[in-house]
Amino acid sequence: MDFFKSANAGVLNLAPYQPGKPVEELERELGVSRIVKLASNENPLGPTPQLQANLGAVLKDCARYPDGSAFQLKQKLSEQLGVAIPCLTVGNGSNDVLELLARVFLKPGLNAVVSQHAFVVYALVTQSLGATLKEVPCVDYQQDLQATLAMIDDQTRIVFIANPNNPTGTWVRREAVETFLKSVPTTTLVVLDEAYVEYVDDPDYPNGLTLLDQYPNLVVTRTFSKAYGLAALRLGYAVSHPDVADLMNRIRQPFNVNAMALAAGLIALDDPAHVAQGVAVNPARIA
Ligand SMILES: Cc1ncc(COP(=O)(O)O)c(C=O)c1O
Repeated sequence: MDFFKSANAGVLNLAPYQPGKPVEELERELGVSRIVKLASNENPLGPTPQLQANLGAVLKDCARYPDGSAFQLKQKLSEQLGVAIPCLTVGNGSNDVLELLARVFLKPGLNAVVSQHAFVVYALVTQSLGATLKEVPCVDYQQDLQATLAMIDDQTRIVFIANPNNPTGTWVRREAVETFLKSVPTTTLVVLDEAYVEYVDDPDYPNGLTLLDQYPNLVVTRTFSKAYGLAALRLGYAVSHPDVADLMNRIRQPFNVNAMALAAGLIALDDPAHVAQGVAVNPARIA
């Protein structure tokens, strides 16, 4: 039996995602102990100290399935972000919501447009569905939104834009994003991936949430993995038009976010000072 012959063509063309090596593995390999891991943009401060004191209760109740509707977390996010609850989709990391978007809108014959050097998961989710990935060349490691627009055709269902991007660390500014959004066909979803939004201090940076009312085809994704220091627990979310959220909700796993992550997210949202501290220690300082 040749399983490769019977596998989906899109899957065959993929290489497995290469995560940064765990610190323990590197310690064993090299016999060194003071390792600073930079590969995955994790939070060096860790999560809020409130987490340890408050997560025990979740463990006691872990024989029960988590709240599949993520009611409390969505309620708090809705209050803090000023968005309606039906616009929110919560995921097992923001990778999960990126994949949900791809599964709702992409299939063979359709395509997604990304920038050269874009966050690698966009290619993974697009190609695994047999959809085509169209890559726009960067200019000085910047996403070129004019060229991105020119790349969109009748079959383009999603444009993924990491803002800021990983690994280039570049971002697109408000004016360029708005000009772009005005011209994108309404049948094409624009996914602004704001995994690092908390770290941006450029006044020309467009907070995607402020554009959602004007552009129903815009989706903003965010994560608790970076500024909130919860990468291991896997928690992220999308803010979108309620119909897009409804469609994502139809295909997500019933309990896609575990109880520990839901509880940790609530606790983390209550400690903005910890986020601010993480942001303050982040800028690179060259001595
Ligand atoms: C640009 C970008 N988007 C999304 C993610 C995914 O984050 P997570 O799935 O941990 O929420 C990352 C993580 O490295 C990222 O760099």
